[in-house]
Amino acid sequence: MHIGILTGGGDCPGLNAVIRAVTLALLADGARVTGIERGFLGLVEHRVRPLDAAAVTGILAEGGTILGTHNKANPFEWFGAEGADVSGEVMAYVHALGLDALVAIGGDGTMSIAQRFCALGLPVVGVPKTIDNDIALNERSFGFDSAVAVVAEALDRLATTARSHGRVMIAETMGRYAGWIALEGGLAGGADVILIPEQPFDVDAVAARCRANEDAGGCTLVCIAEGAHERGGAMTVRAQVADSPDPIRLGGVGHWLQHALQPRVRSEVRTTLLGHVQRGGTPTPYDRVLATRFGVHAARLVATGQFGRMVALQGGVCTSVPIAEVANRNRTVPPDDELLRAARAIGVSLGQAGQG
Ligand code: F6P
Repeated sequence: MHIGILTGGGDCPGLNAVIRAVTLALLADGARVTGIERGFLGLVEHRVRPLDAAAVTGILAEGGTILGTHNKANPFEWFGAEGADVSGEVMAYVHALGLDALVAIGGDGTMSIAQRFCALGLPVVGVPKTIDNDIALNERSFGFDSAVAVVAEALDRLATTARSHGRVMIAETMGRYAGWIALEGGLAGGADVILIPEQPFDVDAVAARCRANEDAGGCTLVCIAEGAHERGGAMTVRAQVADSPDPIRLGGVGHWLQHALQPRVRSEVRTTLLGHVQRGGTPTPYDRVLATRFGVHAARLVATGQFGRMVALQGGVCTSVPIAEVANRNRTVPPDDELLRAARAIGVSLGQAGQG
């Protein structure tokens, strides 16, 4: 068997741990492994390299991806040729390389492209990746724990300076349309207020919480997801990226909230945009282990000929689901989520009127 591996979409901590595990497990099965550079771009531009044990030694704890990635390269809508479909050329190259199957490590965009190649006859196994933890039918993606650790540490640091100055400190997290990073990071960092896209907020409710803290002589820590928005309002768009499967880039709601809050509170309000710091750096031990489990499971799916499927964690156990059921879907925070209930139970404000 000759298997290709690629990483698509935004990078995240743990990608190298997956590449290592897939490669070592496939080599142990007697397969030959080829790394494809910069996601599907490598299949269009013929950029590949052999992966052996030496190539994946020492990369377990390394952030990013040794193969490189791309979040715009979609062979079905090729941006280099104004939306042309170059999937036929890609399939010809796949045959010329002699690839029997592809392991595609990526988010929902990568899964939907993988699904379309599956339909053209390229056997594909998917591995879910994202710091956002928003891939459907998968309760935990590697990279998420590392991002949450960054948010928690940032809040710890913001807390001491907030306390010293009696300020309102806002930390804006990533997460796209899901609030998982802000919710779990906010809980881990002891935020007084957690604002997520799934629970539209009232500025007056947030201000009331800040003023109550001021009256008690304290400061306020607000953890806000980039997709959070006022009740009846829209998400804050930072940029529109042409040619991307997901052209909307969110960001800036933290500063929007700062300006909305400042006239309503006595203390000074400051904002920290955590940004790509959440995506870089070394994976936590949890993510290294999860990534290794996912990689080994992907190799097992290849070895047993179970194609068109994505590795998934369900009930704490590695399993797989049809890629077709995952492509172009998101997993957001449900209204009855246990973490939301825990936050409410300990008095964390979710920005809802009357909640305090
Ligand atoms: O999906 C991962 C993610 O980091 C999101 O949380 C964020 O909105 C987006 O990617 C940022 O993308 P870019 O790296 O293109 O700015």
